[in-house]
Amino acid sequence: MKNTKVEKNTEVVINSLTQIGEFPIASTKQIYEIARANGFTYASARDTFMVVKSGRGKWNVGGFTNATAGHQSHAVGASESVQMKAATKPQGEVVNLATSVQSVSNDEVYIPKADPTFVPWGEFLTIKKIIQSNQFFPLYISGMSGNGKTMMVEQACAKAKREYVRVQISPETDEDDLIGGFRLINGETVFQKGPVLKAMEAGCILLIDEIDRGTNKIMCLQGVLEGKPVLCKKTGHVIHPAPGFNVIATANTKGRGSDDGRYTAAQIIDDAFVERFVASIDQQYPEYATELKIVKKHMDSFDGIDDKEKTDFSEKLVAWSAVIRKTYNNEGVDELISTRRLCHIVKAFSIFNKRLDAIKMCISRFDEETHEAFLDLYTKIDNNEIDAEGDNIQTNAQDDSSGVDPLAF
Ligand SMILES: Nc1ncnc2c1ncn2[C@@H]1O[C@H](COP(=O)(O)OP(=O)(O)O)[C@@H](O)[C@H]1O
Ligand SMILES: [Mg+2]
Repeated sequence: MKNTKVEKNTEVVINSLTQIGEFPIASTKQIYEIARANGFTYASARDTFMVVKSGRGKWNVGGFTNATAGHQSHAVGASESVQMKAATKPQGEVVNLATSVQSVSNDEVYIPKADPTFVPWGEFLTIKKIIQSNQFFPLYISGMSGNGKTMMVEQACAKAKREYVRVQISPETDEDDLIGGFRLINGETVFQKGPVLKAMEAGCILLIDEIDRGTNKIMCLQGVLEGKPVLCKKTGHVIHPAPGFNVIATANTKGRGSDDGRYTAAQIIDDAFVERFVASIDQQYPEYATELKIVKKHMDSFDGIDDKEKTDFSEKLVAWSAVIRKTYNNEGVDELISTRRLCHIVKAFSIFNKRLDAIKMCISRFDEETHEAFLDLYTKIDNNEIDAEGDNIQTNAQDDSSGVDPLAF
């Protein structure tokens, strides 16, 4: 495992290598000799310094000088813009790109703020522990959309006071977005480091959000998921993960496509890719009591909602989503109300102050039939006709009402 001592030794080795005649080209023998003298094993010397091949038995180690410069750019401050001194072509020819290689600001690397509406639940403590451990322990979190996966990771970083970088994956995401690419800035072509390089250099948490939306174009992450140094093909630099670097991915599926066709945008992820994750968590929607806390906290964050109204509306909204999910699980309906949607409804309610208007507005994306059925169900719950189990309250006293279909179409 890497630690600061190893990093320091890496610097010493590189400094010695710069003294040799052919720098940035070094032979396997030269690397082994110098690295072994500085505490590296054969394997660690090979993994660390023999990354960019430059002919038989020769390696280009020029990228290291700049990789170190990039790392310092983070240490000096978020808005710092650092010009790299030189880049090397993989063949070993040093080209001076004084103005053309630049690290743009590191403003995507930050410790997230604690959100007062956040309710820790489920695997929150597990995630926080992993983040606090500073270990490289790639984690895959799957689960339905809007059940709080992204927020959980963000808030675990906030709690652990650890920096993170979030990248949102789409079918268009490629190496250029992740590792970096050339951009035109102030009339000059500069290399801008991507979020993955920034996270690696900062030794922080890389949150790869909705990884199952990605295509083969994100396969460049494979080495990153193994904790290996990454070769930035566009500049010839080798970037090493700093201590503390870790990857957490979220997804709607477990990487095998969507079982029920719900997430048509979800891609099948290469098995070898999923295999790189050390652990995985499958997150369900929160239980009634947890979701009630979440909805209440969201109500609390808006001024002007009467306390009694807050409690009553929260309870009814959560009962409503619970009945809908139960019906969904029994294949009685094709749509769901996520925790996110409940929070949207609370927001709409804080503006319009009318329960049904807020709900209507936030579920209008559903088809008409579903929309009507959901509204009708809410009205029944609001009138205390149906409870959170979906049971008919009025008939409850006399008989078992499990036969009631609260969302009958
Ligand atoms: N534990 C929670 N505490 C407070 N709010 C939550 C929680 N989980 C989800 N939410 C609400 O739901 C929204 C969606 O959560 P998000 O993390 O984006 O879901 P996912 O990543 O699973 O699609 C959040 O922005 C927040 O408003
Ligand atoms: Mg998300």
